[in-house]
Amino acid sequence: MKLKNTDALNALRAQSLELMGSRQATNSVSTEKALVRHVMVCGGPGCHSSGSPRIAEVLEEELNQRGLSEQVKVFQPGCFGFCEKGPMIEIHPDNITYCEVSAEDVATIVEEHFIKGNTIEHLLYMDPNTKERFATNLPFYDGQLRIALRNVGYIAPENILEYFAVDGYQALAKVLFDMTPLDVIDALKVSGLRGRGGAGFPTGSKWEFTRKSEADQRYIICNADEGDPGAFMDRSVLEGDPHSVLEAMLIAGSAIGASEGFIYVRAEYPAAIHRLKIAIAQAREYGLLGKNILGSDFSFDIELKYGAGAFVCGEETALIHSIEGSRGEPTVKPPFPAQKGLWGKPTCVNNVETLANIPAIILKGADWFSGIGTEKSKGTKVFALAGKVNSVGLVEVPMGTTLRQIIFNMGGGIKGHKTFKAAQTGGPSGGCIPTKFLDTPIDYESLASIGSMMGSGGLIVLDEDDCMVNIARFFLEFTMDESCGRCTACRVGTKRLYEILTKITEGKGTLEDLDNMEKLCNIIKDTALCGLGQSAPNPILSTLKYFREEYLAHVVDKTCPAGVCKNLLKYEITDKCVGCTLCVKKCPMNCITGASKKRHTIDQERCLKCGACMEQCRVVGAIIRR
Ligand SMILES: Cc1cc2nc3c(=O)[nH]c(=O)nc-3n(C[C@H](O)[C@H](O)[C@H](O)COP(=O)(O)O)c2cc1C
Ligand code: SF4
Ligand code: SF4
Ligand code: SF4
Ligand code: FES
Repeated sequence: MKLKNTDALNALRAQSLELMGSRQATNSVSTEKALVRHVMVCGGPGCHSSGSPRIAEVLEEELNQRGLSEQVKVFQPGCFGFCEKGPMIEIHPDNITYCEVSAEDVATIVEEHFIKGNTIEHLLYMDPNTKERFATNLPFYDGQLRIALRNVGYIAPENILEYFAVDGYQALAKVLFDMTPLDVIDALKVSGLRGRGGAGFPTGSKWEFTRKSEADQRYIICNADEGDPGAFMDRSVLEGDPHSVLEAMLIAGSAIGASEGFIYVRAEYPAAIHRLKIAIAQAREYGLLGKNILGSDFSFDIELKYGAGAFVCGEETALIHSIEGSRGEPTVKPPFPAQKGLWGKPTCVNNVETLANIPAIILKGADWFSGIGTEKSKGTKVFALAGKVNSVGLVEVPMGTTLRQIIFNMGGGIKGHKTFKAAQTGGPSGGCIPTKFLDTPIDYESLASIGSMMGSGGLIVLDEDDCMVNIARFFLEFTMDESCGRCTACRVGTKRLYEILTKITEGKGTLEDLDNMEKLCNIIKDTALCGLGQSAPNPILSTLKYFREEYLAHVVDKTCPAGVCKNLLKYEITDKCVGCTLCVKKCPMNCITGASKKRHTIDQERCLKCGACMEQCRVVGAIIRR
């Protein structure tokens, strides 16, 4: 059924509101529908891999058997964000969230919650510090503001009618019938939206440059390559709210004067690809892609292109070459894609999260968006919170939120009551931020000023057990492996840096190595062709700056304060040993000897430094690690 005009779109929206029922109880939802409970079983990547599809299946079977399938409906939306506690379910209109649910809990949920009306205490979230249980208003969401993720976890992503119900494609209608292309570009400029793919370039200006480039054809590319390890915000948007990305691409197309768009998505995201295919087919069916959209003179279509998982192919010029069928290598800018991009035509490349903000900005207004955030960074940013924090997941917060709020409030603090050491932001080429900056309001500028960057929003929390030299080496290994090899500074420079770091972690480093490393970092930053090489030294430079004492411990004292670098460790048995022989049985190298009830000793030449003996020993202080 092709929608021929906005009246048809509005009529469909009104009809679709009923579908949302108890999730969005408004006057337009009949009382009968508003009473039907909606159980949202998280279908995001984390919950999916820990069995949420099976939970949804068993729940539907159980409800059927109990004759409740008309009163309780089951949905599988995208990620709720709080992946740490998955699989999660939310029940509307009861406003109750259950955590770490398993298929075995389903019978209890149906019996206790739906039949007897009881809340199941042990499935409620428990704060690890206070032990308080929460049925609703979980601390994880306190301080979050969902704009890019507004529909993720809320609507059923494979049903376009649900997207219509939450004002889907209304922004497109507004753009096509009530605004000129220049109005749209102005609105984006006033909103202050900046690219969420890493560089933070103002989106409205990028659209303006692309529009101004003379050409018979222009293109829109959605960058869904998402190569930063641990980042999954783009994936969550694509899986949980694919139409918002299509709608934003249509808006971009009409503003820039493009009739074709491409989504470059990594092939390792099969669920996102599946949802995108469904969304594109539905949009075509409703006449929202194709010729004369909503009866206007605007025509636009979208094609999917698959990336093979090379990190560098997320860089916009490499991505364009990859779509063209050439080797995915970056090229010098200028010319920028906005001037000369795909097949030599002006091309606007935007990240998934950037695009997901756009329909909301058009509908709610540029001033609403620019009222959120800091002076130069407007709106919100999604962070993939990971590492040694109690609550890992996706958080979307207003720009200007501090790291302390994210890590200690939403993230629930450090796992196992350990001490916070650093936060690594900005993906593999970001920097490590020490404790003294925990209260810095984070935005593009403040992160850069403290030697890190926003990047795509990776946020890895490190604690006292992490060795900062080893962390720098870990990220360097990633960028070294992913370097495309085109320029010497990056290809050879990252390798040399990695070798020096390895030498230091093995206890063979010198003070001169530290100086050489710093010099080489600055050369690579200044001479590498693309962002990969230019930012690869960040983990080293930031750790050298803020954790120099750890480097000195490795180089001068030949110790690893965190006890991570094996070559620098030594396990010793002290005179507290009672000769119980437990450690002897556990040692994989058989290198512990001693008579029963007598002090034992370790043959240091053969010791692997695996730590198994220390874990096994029950006498405090009998085995020490130096
Ligand atoms: C090595 C490298 C990898 C990148 N990977 C991505 C990526 O996976 N996704 C993305 O949106 N941008 C990535 N970028 C940034 C893009 O080049 C580009 O700036 C971005 O897609 C523009 O969209 P935006 O203005 O909406 O941020 C990468 C940049 C570099 C240097
Ligand atoms: S900086 Fe590295 S990834 Fe970028 S073009 Fe040069 S070699 Fe390739
Ligand atoms: S550290 Fe491992 S290899 Fe060394 S003595 Fe202990 S158990 Fe044996
Ligand atoms: S387990 Fe501990 S107490 Fe027992 S022999 Fe080994 S070092 Fe000594
Ligand atoms: S995957 Fe379920 S909460 Fe993120």
